[in-house]
Amino acid sequence: MSTILVSNRLPVTLHADQGDVVLKPSAGGLATALGSVHARGDTKWVGWPGDVARLTATERDALDRRLQDARLVPVHLTPSEVQRYYDGFSNGVLWPLCHYLLDKVNLEATRDWVAYRRVNERFADAVAKVTKPGDEVWVHDYQLALVPQLLRLRQPEAKIGFFLHIPFPSAEVFRILPWREDLVRGLLGADLVGFHTAAYAFHFAYAAAQLLGIEPAFDVLKHDERAVRFGAYPIGIDASAFEGLARDENVRADVARIRASAAGKRIVLGLDRLDYTKGIPRRLMAIGKLLDREPGLRDKLHFIQLAMPTREKVDSYADYRRTVNELVGRINGTYGTPTSVPIHLLHRMIGPKELAALYGAADVMLVTPLRDGMNLVAKEYVASRVDDDGVLVLSEFAGAATELQEAVRVNPYDIDGVAAALARAMRMPPDEQRLRMQALRKRVSAHDVGHWARSFLEHLEAASSPMSRRSPAPPPSVTLTRRVEELDSAPELVLLLDYDGTLVPFASMPDLAIPDESLIQTLMALSARPGTQVHLVSGRDRNSLERWFGAVPVGLHAEHGYWSRESIEAPWLSNSDADLGWKDAVRRMLDDVVARTEGSFVEEKTAALGLHYRATEPQLAVRRLDELKARLHGFMKEHGDVEMLEGAKVFEVRLRGINKGIIASRLAQAHPHAAVLAIGDDRTDEDMFAALPERAVTVHVGSGPTRAHYRVGNVVEVRALLDTLRSTPR
Ligand code: ADP
Ligand code: G6P
Repeated sequence: MSTILVSNRLPVTLHADQGDVVLKPSAGGLATALGSVHARGDTKWVGWPGDVARLTATERDALDRRLQDARLVPVHLTPSEVQRYYDGFSNGVLWPLCHYLLDKVNLEATRDWVAYRRVNERFADAVAKVTKPGDEVWVHDYQLALVPQLLRLRQPEAKIGFFLHIPFPSAEVFRILPWREDLVRGLLGADLVGFHTAAYAFHFAYAAAQLLGIEPAFDVLKHDERAVRFGAYPIGIDASAFEGLARDENVRADVARIRASAAGKRIVLGLDRLDYTKGIPRRLMAIGKLLDREPGLRDKLHFIQLAMPTREKVDSYADYRRTVNELVGRINGTYGTPTSVPIHLLHRMIGPKELAALYGAADVMLVTPLRDGMNLVAKEYVASRVDDDGVLVLSEFAGAATELQEAVRVNPYDIDGVAAALARAMRMPPDEQRLRMQALRKRVSAHDVGHWARSFLEHLEAASSPMSRRSPAPPPSVTLTRRVEELDSAPELVLLLDYDGTLVPFASMPDLAIPDESLIQTLMALSARPGTQVHLVSGRDRNSLERWFGAVPVGLHAEHGYWSRESIEAPWLSNSDADLGWKDAVRRMLDDVVARTEGSFVEEKTAALGLHYRATEPQLAVRRLDELKARLHGFMKEHGDVEMLEGAKVFEVRLRGINKGIIASRLAQAHPHAAVLAIGDDRTDEDMFAALPERAVTVHVGSGPTRAHYRVGNVVEVRALLDTLRSTPR
């Protein structure tokens, strides 16, 4: 078994270098982290190697062979694909949106979206080509959000994991996107979806609930008959490699050199891709503020900012670079002297040893992004501080802040606050530094990148095992169709049909779920068949059934069997004479909930009261139901004749002992030789299935546990089944 890693960028990228084209290591946290996983040796890595447009066909073949030797599988993109899928949609829409920088989101991006879809298709094709049965596929990051679903279409049994390296924003922000449902569905193609923090995972579950009506749950979402697990898997770094470098003699010598050149000043370090999420201008302003406020620090602070150029074709990145340059110029112009300046800005990528030397030399590390999925730089600095000294100043908006509690935490939007935190960090006594750094180092080395990959892949293995993947496998529908055709030979046939979710789909308001003309025609035709009786057994109130089906020659059973109209000629009769005095008190409780719960309402029936909450904000609904159930538990101690029932976005309090089973067993007894077909979609229909003799053909609609013999996917399939019966000649 191999692991197929999939990410937009391969760990190496083609660059033009003085007329030559060379492969250089790719920048950023994703390449760093997956690099350690790929080093294991049993992986292949599918991704984009950078712009090959200027290569000749021969050069390109040579490149592909080189990549192949490194187990890298290239997906070559045309310049226009790069422009629309990568610059346009990935980095012009998803990146700023997920980092809450809404003014930078381009919402006029329909053509970019089309390209994004197409490139995701191309990735799915490339992955499908190299994946063998039993392999696990691990897709990474926002550039490839549709790949899990697209790959699932190509390989339904594949083990697919997805990890998002950037924040999943609040659902309120996410739903701004015109393409929001497609993106969530894309991710739900995976067996396991991982995020850096629990907060991102909750945002995702909430978006799925809000946009696709999926019940919000703690760690699993039911989608398309599959269980999709999700959770927090905070990414780590290769801590021992950083420790090793920090102890390397050459690196130590470099540290000493950097310190000497800083001439006794406190060295403060910033190290980022030159990305507007990293908060570099505000960081610089905080430094300016501090130097203004405390002139004594002007010849004590030596700030080095490494700012690696990135995504330079996207306008907002070019603007950002200008802003940073101007600010550095202004601050150095104001606070510099003829012999020194406070800020040293370097626009370039450096190698691991140089990086280790800078981490080793920095007394204070400033990591102040406005938003960051995790931020590996913070962890790398900690791992490099093998002498347990140094101070990490960390933005509370970086995912890393959840784990690195002992850092000096700052709100990067609060420039005064950052300035004060920097002053504090520069003056922090060695004992406090040690106390904090030891705790940080312990965590960073325990939760390293190996731990991250192992725990994700172990959970992926469990999540994609056949046991956990599906609710019981539906028997082949061809068997069901044959069974239904066979029912035809029985002298008598009784159909028991639930209504909502079985014959018609759910609507936002119960009154909108009206039967269409073709359903009425089907029921008419079925009941006209010789020896055939059709009964609608529903939780609906009697008035609705009468209004819609009064003139149809079928049996009607309302309120889960409290009322029955056995045939078109028969009157409505109640199946119980129990006291309903409890209703007033329950109605008051439900009215109280509705008054405080937007989008909910009470449905009144004779022997039941239902609280509908389909339009309610999902987490509020869960909370209100918990409150209500707690109150009802007390009430029910004194009213043993009342029970609670949870349906599809409706919570019902009803007379105990009345259920669809009463109707089913009465009809089965009245027609002992009849063949029976019962179809329903929710828990109340299970009472009906349980009360029928074993030979009855019982059919459950949708996913979820059931005792029914057969399963169909949805209303459309039920209607097809009834049409089969209708058209079978007797
Ligand atoms: P992001 O993934 O958004 O770039 P991270 O902080 O998670 O942010 O990861 C950045 C990675 O890139 C780290 O591994 C860091 O060491 C590396 N890096 C950042 N700047 C430079 C630079 N100038 N030269 C070399 N590596 C850099
Ligand atoms: C972040 C993203 C990665 C991306 C990296 C570098 O870490 O989460 O997906 O690879 O930045 O960005 P780039 O656009 O150069 O690949």
